[in-house]
Amino acid sequence: MEVNEMEHVNRTSFPKDFLWGSASAAYQIEGAWDEDGKGPSVWDNYVRIPGTTFEGTNGDVAVDHYHRYKEDVQLMADMGLKAYRFSVAWSRILPTGKGEVNEAGIAFYDNLINELIKHHIEPVLTLYHWDIPQALFDEYGGWESRQVIDDFTNYSKILFERFGDRVKYWVSLNEQNIFVGMGYGTALHPPKVQDMKRMYQVNHIANLANASVINAFHEIVPTGKIGPSFAYTPHYPVDTDPKNVLAAENAEELNSYFWMDVYANGRYPSSILKNLEEKGIAPQIEDGDMELLRSAKPDFMGVNYYQSATVAHNPIDGVTQSSEMNTTGKKGTSKETGIPGVYKKVVNPYVKTTNWDWTIDPEGLRIALRRINSRYDLPILITENGLGEFDKLENGKINDSYRIDYLQNHASAIRDAISDGVTVLGYCTWSFTDLLSWLNGYQKRYGFVYVDRDVSDDAPMTRIPKESYYWYQHVIETNGEEL
Ligand code: BG6
Repeated sequence: MEVNEMEHVNRTSFPKDFLWGSASAAYQIEGAWDEDGKGPSVWDNYVRIPGTTFEGTNGDVAVDHYHRYKEDVQLMADMGLKAYRFSVAWSRILPTGKGEVNEAGIAFYDNLINELIKHHIEPVLTLYHWDIPQALFDEYGGWESRQVIDDFTNYSKILFERFGDRVKYWVSLNEQNIFVGMGYGTALHPPKVQDMKRMYQVNHIANLANASVINAFHEIVPTGKIGPSFAYTPHYPVDTDPKNVLAAENAEELNSYFWMDVYANGRYPSSILKNLEEKGIAPQIEDGDMELLRSAKPDFMGVNYYQSATVAHNPIDGVTQSSEMNTTGKKGTSKETGIPGVYKKVVNPYVKTTNWDWTIDPEGLRIALRRINSRYDLPILITENGLGEFDKLENGKINDSYRIDYLQNHASAIRDAISDGVTVLGYCTWSFTDLLSWLNGYQKRYGFVYVDRDVSDDAPMTRIPKESYYWYQHVIETNGEEL
């Protein structure tokens, strides 16, 4: 039989120990923002600045997971979930970012981990999902100072020592490219700064902190596995005009390899570094920095994939970067954006978009996995992927067939990538329960489990499994043979 290149007559099955999982982050689910000794994080303060989040929503109560974690884990167990990725709130463990350990904070995660293990769910622990303690920001500007490297390493060591006996999979930094880019580039996240020089400096410091933590982990938990989670948006050229192909190369190097090359190989792509130097915004690299970056080898690349992007040539006097986003769910309200002389984003006529203008492109996930595999030769853990949509509760049910469609096509793309020869450790969808979408409030929902709340914190918070919950249950049951 004739077989087209890379189309498989018989696709490879998902591995037997494939981690069918789901994910969350502390600030987006826990609530209890100042309970049991927790100190404030930068997000606790940021959301109180008028106009920063959709309708002023915040995570003070979130979906009250802090008090309902047993109920949530029971729902995971009933579904048959194999892995659950969650993050630890640094300021629950160390209320001021350093110093004495808050034992109540440790106890919460201890209980959560034990509850997961009791139900045969593999915990995947994220050390940092954007909530640096406010005290460290007040003291030395948080990620802007090299002091954070030691403080982040000390905090992480506490978690390695306390939980390393039970937690095998660890994520170091969640989406460094997003928290740095939105914190210091587009000023949409704390600390609301728009300064590219500071952004690249912060990013370099975050790279050093990431490397330091990975090295510490390998000493303390030699049998465990750790990697960063990168928000990877693969770029396509709009057509075959070499100018547009070059724009796509620019976008890929600047937005993707500038991070992943550091994680995997301890190097910055030279074309980008040179470009930043010419613009006077390159990071200050000190003696020993590159050695540290090269010394830390992640065990896997964590990938958060939501969408692809299509780009075209952008002249030196062309489109500039927009710091506005569609946070309302009104389709088509995103602004044009680009970097003069580098690339600009354009519409891809071959893919649909969500109500928040994110492209829906399952094949893009296969492309992402293939590129990472070929460039870095590392196993990949998909640490996030999902669809943010409005969901309707009707007669006690949520028929989210659009989400099933989305996840089904993405899971199938993963199977294609596995058939192509990529090692994929697992698939953590975003998210298990509905949760707070940082800038988009509670109406942009991602979960398998509906949570009965919207803008007001004074809500029942009842958990209701959606149609997609039962769909994923069956997928897990058949180990992905029946998607
Ligand atoms: C990722 C984050 O950027 O995407 C999550 O790691 C986030 O924390 C998710 O919620 C979806 O983004 P959004 O903006 O739709 O909530």
